[in-house]
Amino acid sequence: MTKNTSRVPPLEALVARTRRRRFTVATLAALFSLFALYVAWYEAHGPGARRSDELPITQARADDALQANDATATAPTAAGADLVKRGEYLARAGDCAACHTADKTRPFAGGLPINTPFGTIVTPNITPDPDTGIGQWSDADFLRAMHEGIGKSGERLYPAFPYAEYTKVTDRDVLAIRAYLNTLAPIHYAPPGNSLKFPFNQRWLMVFWNMFNFTEGRYVPDPKQSAEWNRGAYLVEGLAHCEECHTPRNVTQGLKTGARFSGAVQAGWHAYNITQDKTSGVGGWSDDELVSYLSTGAAPGRANAAGPMAEVVADSTQYLTHEDLGSIVAYLRSVPPISGGESRPRDQWGNPADDVTALRGTKINAVNGAQLFVANCATCHSWTGQGVGASAPGAYPSLIHNSVVGASDANNLALVILHGVRRTTKQADVLMPAFGSQLTDDQIAAITNYVTRQFGNPQSTLTVDQVASLRTQQ
Ligand code: HEC
Ligand code: HEC
Ligand code: HEC
Repeated sequence: MTKNTSRVPPLEALVARTRRRRFTVATLAALFSLFALYVAWYEAHGPGARRSDELPITQARADDALQANDATATAPTAAGADLVKRGEYLARAGDCAACHTADKTRPFAGGLPINTPFGTIVTPNITPDPDTGIGQWSDADFLRAMHEGIGKSGERLYPAFPYAEYTKVTDRDVLAIRAYLNTLAPIHYAPPGNSLKFPFNQRWLMVFWNMFNFTEGRYVPDPKQSAEWNRGAYLVEGLAHCEECHTPRNVTQGLKTGARFSGAVQAGWHAYNITQDKTSGVGGWSDDELVSYLSTGAAPGRANAAGPMAEVVADSTQYLTHEDLGSIVAYLRSVPPISGGESRPRDQWGNPADDVTALRGTKINAVNGAQLFVANCATCHSWTGQGVGASAPGAYPSLIHNSVVGASDANNLALVILHGVRRTTKQADVLMPAFGSQLTDDQIAAITNYVTRQFGNPQSTLTVDQVASLRTQQ
């Protein structure tokens, strides 16, 4: 997964950096191979090899009962039906479907290819099918996978499965998720295998990754903070795994703990800086705007959720209760500001276009950004860029004061033009058509550069090659 810091360099630099990283990572992996053998042996034979994680399940349950009144606990479960309902809610908070549902007709049966810098990992089937799913897993197996990243036969799981965050989830909540998964229709489907290059096809190498990037353990509430804050921290750092996308990665692809929430790029999409910095992050947003964004995907005058964030909203955060969203916001408020060096907030750029005659060219030139904008975009966003329907759910948003158009890079804008926007929530079925098959790379570059110059951050430009490279991202 290609990640970088919040100030996004040009795409070539990114690609070069990824190559360098791949090389460094490969070298690192090779260097550590011998050491690894020792550590693997030590893991298996050394003292304390299996720590408290292998508590008998009854004891683990008892531990959870003790926690029943802390901030991480939700309403007590009376009946099995409640447990399953709570499990469904938590599975949504953890967005299991985003990765384990590749085909809507096969929910939770896996098969989604996830591209990493080391090759492709395909998500497994987690329906209760006994042969191809997790029907034969015990609760202890399931807890161990979620908390330690270890599969049923003791194999190491890849951190593309966010166990580094799920480790924080209480046993009680993990078992509720299991109870919910048990009620799903078993689907007999074996997803295709991974295609990872040597040495990354060696699962035991994850021992190293874990050494540098993983701390096993449940969320420990901070007694100095409010119950609301603790609930938010529990969700954000745990199930909701916001940092998987919003925190940049180090050389081993672990999260950079010194730059948490400061923004990162994955498969071309820039998950923006969401620290409290007023210029580079979301420090200027009100609580209501943040809640509105997470529950509907739109914060009028600030941002709309497209790409991976549209999925997060549609599959996960829209289902969270108002209290849980409030807790998430309370926690985000405490994230230390990190500046990416921007001179203005992403959502504070742009002016309406005011000279329609300039747009009415005598002859349509295939690569004139302004004319292409009027021909392809203005029916919905208006030739002035101010949109139609303003803040109504499902409106055609204004491109002025929009974070994608005012960002310090134009990646997401070009990706929105290539792939459109699709987001289904309780409020609206949001659909912007994809232009990837109608427009050429130079036309998309021309529209992108016109839109950032006129309605957004004029320093954000894209070359035709950069658009071509974004087109190949999955
Ligand atoms: C960001 C993507 C992502 C999300 C979100 C995600 N998973 Fe996974 N999961 C994976 C990948 C990738 C693997 C396979 C890892 C491997 O092959 O080593 C996996 C593996 C698993 C496994 C091991 C299955 C096996 O056959 O070995 C379980 C169990 C699991 N996930 C459960 C869940 C649950 C429950 C949730 C939601 C709380 C969830 N996952 C959310 C990507 C994800
Ligand atoms: C799968 C990756 C992913 C995950 C997980 C994720 N985000 Fe995002 N987020 C993104 C991307 C990509 C964008 C940019 C969306 C766009 O361009 O429309 C974004 C945008 C945002 C924005 C708007 C910023 C702006 O200025 O436009 C906020 C706020 C946000 N995310 C909060 C969160 C929170 C809180 C969580 C956890 C509950 C979370 N995100 C989880 C990828 C992710
Ligand atoms: C058929 C109507 C329609 C057309 C045509 C259209 N859009 Fe959109 N656009 C939308 C809708 C709907 C949304 C999503 C609103 C939301 O997220 O709530 C959107 C969102 C956007 C966003 C915001 C994305 C984000 O993540 O914040 C941008 C930027 C954008 N469009 C640019 C364009 C450009 C450039 C064109 C022309 C190439 C275009 N649109 C054509 C309807 C349209």
